Amino acid sequence: MRNITFALPKGRLAEQTMELLAKIGITCDEMNENSRKLLFRDNEQGYSFFLAKPSDVPTYVEYGAADIGVVGKDILLEGQRAVSEVAALPFGRCRMIVAGYPEVCERYESGGHIRVATTFPNIALNYFQAKKCNVEIIKLNGSTELGAIVGLADVVVDITETGSTLKENGLVIFDEICEVSARIIVNNAAMKLENERISTIVKKLTSLL
Ligand code: PRP
Repeated sequence: MRNITFALPKGRLAEQTMELLAKIGITCDEMNENSRKLLFRDNEQGYSFFLAKPSDVPTYVEYGAADIGVVGKDILLEGQRAVSEVAALPFGRCRMIVAGYPEVCERYESGGHIRVATTFPNIALNYFQAKKCNVEIIKLNGSTELGAIVGLADVVVDITETGSTLKENGLVIFDEICEVSARIIVNNAAMKLENERISTIVKKLTSLL
C-alpha cells in the first residue's frame, strides 16, 4: 500500500492541521522534533508528510507530489492551480483587503490612477479590473504594508488577521476583497485512484468541524 502524502504549509497552519489530524488518529511524532528534516514517512500508518512554503503547497498537490494539501484560500485564488478543493477548515481565517493611509482614500475612491503593492498580483488585478480602476500592480514578496509606508505604492492588497500591522503603521482599510480561511485540497488523479482512503480522511476531518 502506498503512503498517502500530505503537503502542509510551514508554520501555524501546519500545527493546527496536525492537531486536527491527531483527533482522527493520524499522527507524526517525528515532525514535532526540532530538526531540518523535510519529509516524514510513517510506512506503518501509510502516511507521509512534508512542510512547504505555503504558496508552493498547491504546486506539489497539482503535480501529485502530495495527495492532500492544506493551504489558505488566498493562495488558491492567487495561484489558480488545477487541484480539487474539498473542504474549508475553521482556522487560518483572515480578510483580503485594500489598505492605505487615510489621506489617500479620497484619491482611491475617485478612481484615479493608483499604484498597488501586493504579494497577490492576480487577486489585486482581478479586483481592480472588475471595478474598472486604472492601477499599476507592484509585486512584493512580504511585509507588503511597507510598500504604502515608504511610498512605493498608494495602497496595498494584503491579508489582515488581527489588524495590528495596519493599526501600528497608521494604515486603514479602504475595501474588503474577500474572506479567506484554510482549505483542504486534493490531487485530481489521487481523488480517483485513492478515492476511498482520501474520502475517508476528509469525511472524518469534516465531521469534527
Ligand atoms: C501577514 C500579512 C500582514 C500581516 C497581517 O504577514 O501579510 O503583513 O500578516 O496580520 P495582522 O492583521 O494580524 O497584523 P506575515 O506575518 O504572514 O508575513 P509577511 O508580511 O512576510 O507576508
